[in-house]
Amino acid sequence: MIPTISQVLSLIVLITVTSVVAIAPDSQFRLQTEVQGLPVPVQLGVMSRCPDALACESVFDQVWKEVGQQKMNLSLIYVARLNSTDKDFGVTCMHGPGECAGNIQQLCVAKYATPSTWWNFIQCQNAHGRYRVGEPELTLQCAANVGFDWKSSEIGACAGLDVSGKGTEGIQLLRQSLLLGKALHIQKSCTVLINGKKVCVRDGTWDCDGGHDVEDFVEIINREYDKINEGVI
Ligand SMILES: *[C@@H]1O[C@H](CO)[C@@H](O)[C@H](O)[C@H]1NC(C)=O
Ligand SMILES: *[C@@H]1O[C@H](CO)[C@@H](O)[C@H](O)[C@H]1NC(C)=O
Repeated sequence: MIPTISQVLSLIVLITVTSVVAIAPDSQFRLQTEVQGLPVPVQLGVMSRCPDALACESVFDQVWKEVGQQKMNLSLIYVARLNSTDKDFGVTCMHGPGECAGNIQQLCVAKYATPSTWWNFIQCQNAHGRYRVGEPELTLQCAANVGFDWKSSEIGACAGLDVSGKGTEGIQLLRQSLLLGKALHIQKSCTVLINGKKVCVRDGTWDCDGGHDVEDFVEIINREYDKINEGVI
């Protein structure tokens, strides 16, 4: 028998409805589990007043916006030298004591604020030029800008209520960070590690395995994310 036009039409409608129903639960399932995947560790070896660090942090600001917070776990590891003769920090920072203060402020914000507050705080400090990173007045202003009060928060207690970076806990965080950097063989600011692998060093110019555009980093992170979560999602 030859089907009438209306029979053909209802068959098409039936097939469409069936496939939508069949696909929908699956894509919803994928959406839910994607959020639960493990994020890719992205570690930047930096010094808070280093021009290469600021360049790196500006690139990764865009990378993070593109990749999203669920897929990457960004952290900063500070490059400096332990020095028992230094009476303030027990650490020598290449760009002076102001850099040690900046490193410690950033570490305390990282410990006690949300990742996005921490990152906005760093971008705020950087926006005023590298020589002002760590400066107490600017630090208080950036804290207010990103939504916390320095003096009444755990961050102030950690890095020093006088904003000097000389808080006991903050100094301890800086020492731990230096040791972690040593263990990871990070020597230069800025060093980029994605999923534990060194992919770039920026020291005046970029020196990378692959490219150094935002899209290059986005691609590596997405690839590592799939690798880490293969079979899980
Ligand atoms: C992100 O990395 C830090 C170490 O840098 C770790 O303590 C933390 O658990 C990680 N977060 C997630 C969601 O994996
Ligand atoms: C150690 O710190 C002292 C005091 O700040 C400084 O004079 C000296 O140059 C530092 N040594 C190194 C190797 O950085």
